[in-house]
Amino acid sequence: MEECAPAPSIRDTGLRNVVIASTKISNVIGDQGKLIYRGYSIGDLAEFAAFEEVIHLLLFESLPSKTALTDFKARLVGERAIPPEVVDALKTRPASSLPMDILQGAVPMLANHDPDVEDGSRDAAERMGLRLIAKLPTVLAAWRRIKEGKPVLDPLDDLDHAANFLYMFFGERPSDEATRFFDACLVMHAEHSFNASTFAARGVASTLAHIHAAVAGAVGSLSGALHGGANTRVMKMLKEIGDIGNVESYVTRQLDSGGKIMGLGHAVYDTDDPRALILAPMSRQMGEKTGETQWYEISRELEIKAKAAFKERKGKDIFANVDFYSASLYHTMGFPTEMFTPIFAISRVAGWVAHVLEEQFGGAEAKPTLYRPKSDYVGDYCGPEECSWAPIEKR
Ligand SMILES: CC(C)(COP(=O)(O)OP(=O)(O)OC[C@H]1O[C@@H](n2cnc3c(N)ncnc32)[C@H](O)[C@@H]1OP(=O)(O)O)[C@@H](O)C(=O)NCCC(=O)NCCS
Repeated sequence: MEECAPAPSIRDTGLRNVVIASTKISNVIGDQGKLIYRGYSIGDLAEFAAFEEVIHLLLFESLPSKTALTDFKARLVGERAIPPEVVDALKTRPASSLPMDILQGAVPMLANHDPDVEDGSRDAAERMGLRLIAKLPTVLAAWRRIKEGKPVLDPLDDLDHAANFLYMFFGERPSDEATRFFDACLVMHAEHSFNASTFAARGVASTLAHIHAAVAGAVGSLSGALHGGANTRVMKMLKEIGDIGNVESYVTRQLDSGGKIMGLGHAVYDTDDPRALILAPMSRQMGEKTGETQWYEISRELEIKAKAAFKERKGKDIFANVDFYSASLYHTMGFPTEMFTPIFAISRVAGWVAHVLEEQFGGAEAKPTLYRPKSDYVGDYCGPEECSWAPIEKR
């Protein structure tokens, strides 16, 4: 009789190269440095598409016509306001709260006020998803204003998604340039296939939990230093370096001690991350506009020096990822460092919603209904026998 081949061990691989589902939403072609949302390259989308068009593309599989876009924008505008009870609850949070915790905690609060939360249909999930996309920027801006002791601002209906967030956050209507840059940032952070937070969202959604539960899980996942949390750490690193003359010694110190240089490296790209290539000139331009050119310059020098040192030590290349230049860009736009990762979240929520819809209501092909990987139990406590129960006084 033929013996069953043992299942290949994927321990320690972090699921790299393991295909767990089919998707039509996006593709990351790591060796070519390509990112594609439903057939469209990230370069074209960042240059030509508004964030609302990208949300439509991700959720409904096509770019909207002019009238469809007008209607879709109106739908989002109508969902921006958050319940006063949520604002009141935010006011009870300690000012020291981490903004990602605030955002994550707000998601189930929004579920508590969502009329569709017990309706398991696709239409209901879509409505709830759009509400989350529309409301999370309002939550984040409200938190920032509360923390600063300023009045919370209502959304402005005549402003598009990006401009309205900047208005609610900073308290004044943004310039066209700031809006254009921020809109492009939202577009570029919206989706990235089965990254850790999207996988978290899909894992929760695979249990048929509602979309708020899935998005709350995803926000938690995004907060980690190796994922969305990297952009805040990039800015802290740039501040620590402080001067372009300190870059080389920082790189040496960091690599000597086995530390990582934040914003470099990627689990999928082994060439340039296409988003970093777009963000780098944006960072330079915003620095020139605000007179704070040093952050771009330190970043650029750091990228050059770290790449060379990495190549020399490890014999391979390393590239800037999406977080590397978005840090200096956000900083020169005036965002506090602690807000960088939540800003990532208010964009990526569009991708999470698209993935939850695909997970629950149909992807490209059949998939398991519930994620349930196997583990390799390596506990070795009492030899081949089970441990015999020891009463507490005998332990
Ligand atoms: C993103 C990241 C986790 C990708 O990981 P990965 O592809 O699995 O790569 P690994 O962690 O296996 O690293 C491979 C090697 O490169 C090194 N390396 C990877 N990224 C590095 C970095 N940013 N700085 C210094 N060394 C790095 C690792 O230490 C490892 O060295 P080793 O082979 O001697 O152990 C990793 O590059 C990283 O931690 N980057 C910094 C955090 C960051 O910017 N995250 C945002 C990602 S969008």
